[in-house]
Amino acid sequence: MQTAFTRLVGCTQPLQQAPMGGVSGPELAGAVARAGALGMLCEFDLEPAEERMTNAVAGAGGGAVGMGFFGHAIQDDLGTFETAAARLRVVEVFWTTPDPALVARARSAGEALVAWQVGSLDDALAAQDAGCDFVITQGVEAGGHVRGTQPRDELLHEVRERVSIPVVAAGGIAAPESVAAALSAGAAAVRIGTAFIATHESRGHPAYIEALLAAQSGDDTVLTTAFAVGWPDAPHRVLKSALAAAEAFTGDVVAEGGPPAARRPVLRFSSATPSRHVEGRIDAMAQYAGMGVGSVTRVLPAADLVAKLVSHLA
Ligand SMILES: Cc1cc2nc3c(=O)[nH]c(=O)nc-3n(C[C@H](O)[C@H](O)[C@H](O)COP(=O)(O)O)c2cc1C
Repeated sequence: MQTAFTRLVGCTQPLQQAPMGGVSGPELAGAVARAGALGMLCEFDLEPAEERMTNAVAGAGGGAVGMGFFGHAIQDDLGTFETAAARLRVVEVFWTTPDPALVARARSAGEALVAWQVGSLDDALAAQDAGCDFVITQGVEAGGHVRGTQPRDELLHEVRERVSIPVVAAGGIAAPESVAAALSAGAAAVRIGTAFIATHESRGHPAYIEALLAAQSGDDTVLTTAFAVGWPDAPHRVLKSALAAAEAFTGDVVAEGGPPAARRPVLRFSSATPSRHVEGRIDAMAQYAGMGVGSVTRVLPAADLVAKLVSHLA
């Protein structure tokens, strides 16, 4: 299906896989891009960022790959942001208020489209004013860190009425029916995180993936500020079971992670994602999950998941 998003990005499916720290490495971003959607890397991961860009683009077979950045950390990582703007199809920022200076910086570094994930109408308007090419509206149903307080459909509706750039809807979308509904409601594409954790190419820890498969519905998730170590005062949605396990845990260190040469303790209530390279009490780590988790019932190759998610589109 062609939309303003597919025409702009140059992909064949109106779908963006969310950048997910500790989950979306080059294997996932490349496979999603090869399947016709927009595959996203996250600025942080085990290997150097440039190596991950090279590997994701190599795996993408000409498909569109981007990289997501956090506005509050980007001043320490401007070189990577500029490299991504020069080498990838999309650079994107999350968490802070849209910043025209950062958009201009990407424009002077390369040809990448620039996007911003927002949680409010005001920030969507600011993204458009800052010169962004598209905006992602994140509803409160989303897994991971949650910027706003409004439900996805309400925010999408408000933003669609007021901005002219393509709007990508995010939060709690994990089934083909909800993909079709979001596009019918005026989204130019959907952005999906949680469902892509349960793919062969995901870097999520197997025990984390099992917990996602076991969750029955959005009622098994909770919006909290508990996993604050490393990122305080930032609401995030996780599995309720993970919050309960972290609360019941009595020590200071729940696990150990990082590259083989530099293993580091993962503190109780750390914001770190339970990825494959972590060992320890995975059940008591921040098991981020969106409210669509009940639709995540099996582990698929990423390309099959893309095909399944778009299967109800005309
Ligand atoms: C495990 C996990 C990690 C995430 N990490 C990031 C990240 O690094 N950068 C980012 O912009 N968004 C991140 N998000 C949020 C996504 O961008 C997106 O808003 C969310 O996944 C959409 O909701 P869904 O998970 O219900 O599909 C993360 C989400 C999850 C589930």
